[in-house]
Amino acid sequence: MGMKAVADHYERSGLFELLQRRLTEHGISSPSRADFSALDQMHMRGQTGTEDVIAATGMSAGMKVADLGAGLGGSARIFADLVDAEVTAVDLTPSFCATAEAINAAVGLADRIRVLEGDATATGLDAGMFDIVTTLHACMNIPDKEGVYREAFRLLKPGGRFCFYDVVLGPGGAPRYPTPWAERPELSHLIPADEMRALCEKAGLRTMEVRDLTEEAKAGSRARREEARRRAETGAAAPLQAGDILMGETAGEKMRNMAHNFDADHVGVVLGVFEKP
Ligand SMILES: C[S@@+](CC[C@H](N)C(=O)[O-])C[C@H]1O[C@@H](n2cnc3c(N)ncnc32)[C@H](O)[C@@H]1O
Repeated sequence: MGMKAVADHYERSGLFELLQRRLTEHGISSPSRADFSALDQMHMRGQTGTEDVIAATGMSAGMKVADLGAGLGGSARIFADLVDAEVTAVDLTPSFCATAEAINAAVGLADRIRVLEGDATATGLDAGMFDIVTTLHACMNIPDKEGVYREAFRLLKPGGRFCFYDVVLGPGGAPRYPTPWAERPELSHLIPADEMRALCEKAGLRTMEVRDLTEEAKAGSRARREEARRRAETGAAAPLQAGDILMGETAGEKMRNMAHNFDADHVGVVLGVFEKP
């Protein structure tokens, strides 16, 4: 399965308008970056996960950051807004890049974020230009993970840091599909966390930290399910989220499978931080 099949899995038309409409339905007519962050964090634990990446890498004002597999640019906007980093957001899926640009413009962050349609293993960006390279929940779709880590190494300045925050293969074996990142198993390329770490080191990066966040991810999705159930029971408005918009017709099945995949240890969530010597 090639990159075209991965981009096709994520492609959606009219995404910006659909997200805006969802916000309007919740009474938000001129959304801020924080309002969009309720919809655009396509990884476990939402903004908390992105904030973990900021803290773990020591990201600070003025740093140049490349986010590989940036999706709708949700993390890039948090890096730019909360830290005042200068971000390059690279993603394969054309409608995600266009939507990222539209949201950046709508929340006044277009001058802090450059969006680039491209492949995380070969971005075409200049070498040695970045203080930090991140990738959040994109490598599940990428068979050549070493290629991503080599590209991160190439993009970093000496002393710069690489961080992955990813879904990994757990001890329970192959997950149940469809999942949010793969309608069918051919699109999924999960490996265990220790293999990811070994590939980063093979690419020349030095390990600073590998942190298992599986229990935190499980607790986060349990809390979200309970909140949705409580609201449904009391007749309150559904929580503000965009899973149905982003994951399409099989969104419910994907979320049920993820609950099973976590419960049966088919998947885990790990954050790794590495340094370019
Ligand atoms: C689950 S989304 C995560 C998006 C974003 N990092 C986030 O956490 O919100 C996975 C993203 O990886 C992108 N992707 C998959 N393979 C890629 C590749 N080879 N190069 C660049 N982006 C890729 C997809 O287009 C999609 O936007």
